[in-house]
Amino acid sequence: LSILALHGPNLNLLGQREPGIYGSLTLGEINRLLEEEALKLQATVFPLQSNHEGILVDTIHEALGQYQGILINAGAYTHTSVALRDAIAAVNLPTVEVHLSNIYRREEFRHHSYIAPVAIGQISGFGVQSYLLGLQALVNHLRKDET
Ligand code: DQA
Repeated sequence: LSILALHGPNLNLLGQREPGIYGSLTLGEINRLLEEEALKLQATVFPLQSNHEGILVDTIHEALGQYQGILINAGAYTHTSVALRDAIAAVNLPTVEVHLSNIYRREEFRHHSYIAPVAIGQISGFGVQSYLLGLQALVNHLRKDET
């Protein structure tokens, strides 16, 4: 199984960005842990980060035929982007939404996700574990599809 791990805006700054909220791991370290988890699950993750909404949309389009599922932390675009949501709906690839922080115990504007209605599910609030749990859930879901 090949999984696209998509990281949205400002996540390139992890490690130095509001560590009280997002933790001290860098994106590189998170990707490494994802790769290790994928290995255990006999899957492969391909990480990509962009600060640009259009690049994220293009990447989702290109995922079709290349990957079986998408793990996404859309960052702030979670709360703003109809385009990202439509891209996920268009390619119709099983998608799991993850967030490091618990978006529901933060500012009101973070409580709504445009991604959630087109995702299988969402994991929010467990730091890097959100990613690892999200990957597990996605792989489990895809394996069930295979049988
Ligand atoms: C985030 C939560 C978003 O509200 C925020 O804009 C981010 C990160 C998270 O992982 O907790 O950039 O997606």
